[in-house]
This record gives sequence, structure tokens and C-alpha cells, in this order.
Amino acid sequence: MTSAKGLRLVERDAGGVDLAFREDVLAGLAEAQKAVPARWFYDDRGSQLFEDITQLPEYYPTRAETEILQTRAGAIADLVGEARAVVEFGSGSSVKTPLLLSAIRPSAYVPLDIAGDFLRASSAALAAKFPGLPVYPVEADFMRRVELPAEVAGLPKLGFFPGSTIGNMIARTATDLLRTMRATLGEGAMLLIGMDLVKDEEVLLAAYDDAAGVTAQFNLNLLERINRELGGDIPIDVFAHEARWNDAFARIEMHLVAQSDVAFTVGGQRFAMRAGESIHTENSHKFTKRSAQMLLAAAGWEPCARWTDEARQFSLVLAESRPPRSAP
Ligand code: AVJ
Repeated sequence: MTSAKGLRLVERDAGGVDLAFREDVLAGLAEAQKAVPARWFYDDRGSQLFEDITQLPEYYPTRAETEILQTRAGAIADLVGEARAVVEFGSGSSVKTPLLLSAIRPSAYVPLDIAGDFLRASSAALAAKFPGLPVYPVEADFMRRVELPAEVAGLPKLGFFPGSTIGNMIARTATDLLRTMRATLGEGAMLLIGMDLVKDEEVLLAAYDDAAGVTAQFNLNLLERINRELGGDIPIDVFAHEARWNDAFARIEMHLVAQSDVAFTVGGQRFAMRAGESIHTENSHKFTKRSAQMLLAAAGWEPCARWTDEARQFSLVLAESRPPRSAP
């Protein structure tokens, strides 16, 4: 059962502009190193391009994580138990969500996403695949605490955050989000989270700069979205996609690099860039077993199991929400 529209928690102005999007873009473009948070990639076109990325030969994370879910379904089910409400942070249009849902027999499924149309389409597809499973989509920014539908209030929760999306955040934001998730999910919650692993630099760079140029389109789509939704006149041809490995922070960075001096306006504000300057559009942090454990622990999640794919490219961690304690 899917409520036709779900809940809608995104704030828009009279013209339909997402207020948080405008605020993030105008603030980010005013910085010395221009930057826009990666979550704004995912309008309907961006979400589609990301689905295309997951099919690319160079982009291993989706295949690796799917392999883990396929081969470890039994072990995951044993540890998670039955009858939880699965709360997915980001709406699962992929094959991963059905794999999890059929492994653990949940009582309800609650996908949270800011891309409303995409959310509704993928929720309807999922509900059709699992007749008898109540599906309650919520259009919301999961970086803030979300009030879950009343129908799942009494159920213990399993948060599902696949794809290593946590890697998009710097440590302090990731910690904030993981703590917010504990608040959203409530007492007794568990979290199943995908975390991509540190590996060979060439493998990482290829995954974020594919030969077919799909990742470049995904990156450049952000400029199209800014122009369309925020009334911008950014000349998109002036910008080129670039992926860089930042070793100090163990992360891939994506940038849009100006190929010549350029000036443009967004929402009536004027910005200028020199040739070679960039807009930093994404971080994709890579983890080790220890750094993953540290990050989760800092936010009150205690890992209870960890799996990798055969090639050890990607990890899936199951953690339990822990109340604060005074003794070490
Ligand atoms: C969806 C955030 C996990 O960082 O690998 C893919 C997004 N960006 N290619 C990632 C992405 C460029 C992806 N996440």
C-alpha cells in the first residue's frame, strides 16, 4: 500500500524554488574555493544519470555491494531479526532494496528522499514487487531529523544507507547525520550502511571519470539544474569535469573546472572565475575497517558485523544504536 503522494517536507518559495538549494548554491559560490553540496546532484535527471553510472564497467561500488547483499542475506537476516520497519535514507530504485527486503521480511518500508517524483516512482515499483508490504514514502531532507509516519511508530527500525553515500560528507557532517539517524530511528534501532574502501588510486579515478563520460554529464547536470531552478546563466560549455584523489582526506573529489575566465549570475547575484579555478561539487570518502568503525562510534553506533565483497573493494557494516554511557 502506497499513499499516493506521501508526505512532503521540502520548503519551497511561491515560485516553487527549493529554498535550501538556493541558499546552499549562493553561499557555496561566494566561497574562495567555490563549492556546492553533492546532494543537489539528484534532481530527476541527476538521479537517472546516477543510475546510469551504476551500470558503468569502471564503477564497481554498486556491483560490489550487491554481491555482499546477495551472498550475506542469511547472515544479515539472522542478526537483524524479523518485523522491523526498514527506513531507507535515499529512495531505493536499485536492486539492493529488494534484496534486503526479501532477506529480512520487514513489517514496513519507509523510503526517504528529496527527489519527490523519483521517490514516488520507485516506491510504487517496490510496492508492486512486495504485495502486502506497507510502503510509506516520505519526501524529506534526511540530513534533518524526520518524523516517521505514525503507522511505523511502534516498530523497531532498521536504517538502510547503502551506496557509501555517507562518504559524500566530511567527518563532522557525517557524524551529525549518523547522530540524526539515531534520533529519527529511535531506541533499539540498527543501521546497515555501505562504506566504500580505500584502494588503488587508478581504480578510484577511473570509477569517477569513466571513458563514456557519464560521470562528466552527471557533474555538469548540476550547472543545468542551477540555471533552470535558480535562474542562472552559467555557460556550461566553459566547464570541464575533473576527478582528483585527495590523499590527506582519503577521498575522491569532483570539480567543475573553468576552462577560461568566466562571469555569470545566479538568482541575480554575480560571480566570476579565473581559468583553472573550480567549483568543488563532491567528496567521496573512502574508508578502512578502522576509520569506518571510528566514524560510527563517534556518532553512537556500535558495529556488530562487517562484510566485504570477494575482491574486498567495498564494505557493508551492521551497527546498533547505543545510548551514551559514562564508563568506557
Ligand atoms: C552515490 C555518493 C555513493 O560517491 O560514489 C558516483 C556518487 N558520484 N559517481 C559516489 C557518485 C560520482 C556516489 N554516491
